[in-house]
Amino acid sequence: MRIILDTDPGIDDALAFLLLSASPEISLEAITVTHGNTSVDKCTRNALDIAELAGLLNVPIARGASEPLVKSLTIAEETHGDGGLGYATLSQSTKQVESKHAADLIIDLVHQYPHEITMLMIGPVTNLALAIRKDPSIIPLIKNVVSMGGAIHFPGNATPSAEYNVFCDPHAYDLILRTGFDLTIVPLDVTYQCIFQPRHIQALAGARPEIVKFIEDSTRFYMEFHDEYQKIDGCAINDPLAAALLIRPDLCTYRDYHVTVELAGIHTSAKTTADHFYATGAKPNAKVAMGVDVDGFMDFFIERVKAL
Ligand code: BDR
Ligand code: CA
Repeated sequence: MRIILDTDPGIDDALAFLLLSASPEISLEAITVTHGNTSVDKCTRNALDIAELAGLLNVPIARGASEPLVKSLTIAEETHGDGGLGYATLSQSTKQVESKHAADLIIDLVHQYPHEITMLMIGPVTNLALAIRKDPSIIPLIKNVVSMGGAIHFPGNATPSAEYNVFCDPHAYDLILRTGFDLTIVPLDVTYQCIFQPRHIQALAGARPEIVKFIEDSTRFYMEFHDEYQKIDGCAINDPLAAALLIRPDLCTYRDYHVTVELAGIHTSAKTTADHFYATGAKPNAKVAMGVDVDGFMDFFIERVKAL
């Protein structure tokens, strides 16, 4: 399965890198980087270094959007740390970033592999929005899009109602929702069931020591954030769940919903809404993960990372 990973690394993004690298079903064609958890420059640095840790040295990495389409830039260093990876420090990879912009790399790869590419989006979706605006002919050539984003019947984590990836670039998300992609959304409703705790780190015993150390050091910061700001014991590992569903879609149950993004609200700006009772008569535009086998996912994640 050919995947382009679009990402803003980010602690849980890094865990998704590890899972993808550990999964022989995945052919990772590129990693495209966006603003999000921190600046696009820091996220790109992190992508290169995590790729080295994860053994993804042959995967091209391209820097993408430094800011959202319309609103001003937001970053989340209180959540992911100043560098974006919590307390983890990685040695600087010698891997070089591609000279192409992320949106151009997406366009080129979609033309190279028509109807084969799955876009796995685990940050704000600005790069994909830029790519389809620049070359709309790629729209029908993208096989499908899987996006970690939104909060359907669950509170927001960026504001009381908005999920962070959508909050960072709601206009880009709106465009993706209106494009007619075969779209799977993995919202906080399921990712916030997947709480990673110290016992999960213990279960990683036997994995490569530098990987265990990285997971320990990065998630310790993430856990402190969740404890201090959200009163959650552990940390929600959002992004690797979206990655896992590429291989194990059975880990979630889904609803077909017509999903929209609030672009004008005062208290609800960037909130995703789903037409749960078919009130508008609008056709569903997304398959939304609404239930998750939490232990099944955690076991899958741990087992794969141990084999890396
Ligand atoms: C999403 O926001 C980011 O902080 C995480 O990396 C994840 O992609 C969760 O709302
Ligand atoms: Ca992310």
